[in-house]
Amino acid sequence: MNTGIIGKCMKMPISSKIFTKGEGAYIFDSDNQKYIDMMSGASVAIFGYGNNCFTEAYSKSANSIQHTCFCYAPNDWAIKYAEKIAKTTPGKFSKKVVYGLSGSDAMDGAVKMARAYTKKEGIISFKNSYHGSTGISINVTSWKGISKITKNHHHIHFPKNKEEEKSSLKIIRGIVKNKEVAAIVSEPIQGDAGVIIPTTTFIKSIWEICRQNNMVTIVDEVQTGMGRTGKFWAIEHFGVIPDIIVAAKSITAGYIPMSAIIGREPIVDSIEKGQHVFTYAGHPPSCAIAMEVINQIESGSIIDHVNDVGSYFISKIKEIKSSIIKDVRGKGLMIGIEVDPKIAKIIIARCFEKGIYFGIFGTKNEVIRIEPPLIIDKKIIDKTISIFSKVIKEVETNKIPEHILDQAGKMVSIGN
Ligand SMILES: Cc1ncc(COP(=O)(O)O)c(C=O)c1O
Repeated sequence: MNTGIIGKCMKMPISSKIFTKGEGAYIFDSDNQKYIDMMSGASVAIFGYGNNCFTEAYSKSANSIQHTCFCYAPNDWAIKYAEKIAKTTPGKFSKKVVYGLSGSDAMDGAVKMARAYTKKEGIISFKNSYHGSTGISINVTSWKGISKITKNHHHIHFPKNKEEEKSSLKIIRGIVKNKEVAAIVSEPIQGDAGVIIPTTTFIKSIWEICRQNNMVTIVDEVQTGMGRTGKFWAIEHFGVIPDIIVAAKSITAGYIPMSAIIGREPIVDSIEKGQHVFTYAGHPPSCAIAMEVINQIESGSIIDHVNDVGSYFISKIKEIKSSIIKDVRGKGLMIGIEVDPKIAKIIIARCFEKGIYFGIFGTKNEVIRIEPPLIIDKKIIDKTISIFSKVIKEVETNKIPEHILDQAGKMVSIGN
């Protein structure tokens, strides 16, 4: 199959394979080769593949009414789901929900709300963060070659430790003192930057700065939400209550595109009618699937499972003693293995050939991305570790075959 018909902006694959099928925690290519899926479609397919309860939720709602354009004709699924998701987010205050179709448009909406509410334009976000590629979100994003530096967007270093925290807070305080800033936007744990976990005091401090300066706190849970990190929302690890949560990706477990902005009522309602509407926003079957996702999380033990297998996975990676592995970090099933950028692509290309589909992220593509379906079990993790550790040995002993080196060399990358 020729992928030439698809625009180049959509192409950064790790191999030339075309994928046709998924089952549980596995995906299959068009030659029916099976891969352990360590990507879940970029942190989306949290319940893996082929789960009937979601397709049934779709059919049930679509068979009653497959679409109403919510802004003209409200539907019951969108209202019921808004009530449901609002109960999951931290904070007991009055909340409102606005729907969209992607994390990017939801970030646009959140920024519009913060600007309208505070009557200020500036946005502080963090270097190496990815928040989307639509009109506003692309400049909240901070990746060289993707986002543009504009006078209203300030990109600050995201600190990993106390020392960096001090310097980032000093810069933020300086900007807030001298410029009109509407919001600080942060991922609770940076994803595409390579699983960067901030200090709790940093997250608490930026929240405090917002409170003291009539600024809105926007937390981007697009990649981290719905149990991925071992809490329903990753911000719960830090004990702060944001004004706005932006959610997408896993809220429908990959069965349909959808996003939601959940925030304090007066902030959400500061944008006027018609300023953030989409024909498909609040689409009934999408909301029915999203409802089923929350039902599945609440009625089962998936979050406990994520904590259990997540720490098992991290401990097993740490048992691999190799100078190639520079760091292993993560929470729940959001895990990064940092290696030398020159060899990361070689490792994932070789693992792919041996049946594991890893992703890659980090500013230099130096972090092996592990964000599997949350249903993954210890047996699959053991198999992954067994293959991965053999590949690490091959790299150490220069035994990686030539064709893999060639393939890794051709992988497209983005980076700062
Ligand atoms: C943290 C984060 N925010 C926002 C987005 C944008 O979401 P979408 O691709 O659905 O527009 C992404 C996508 O990767 C993301 O990881």
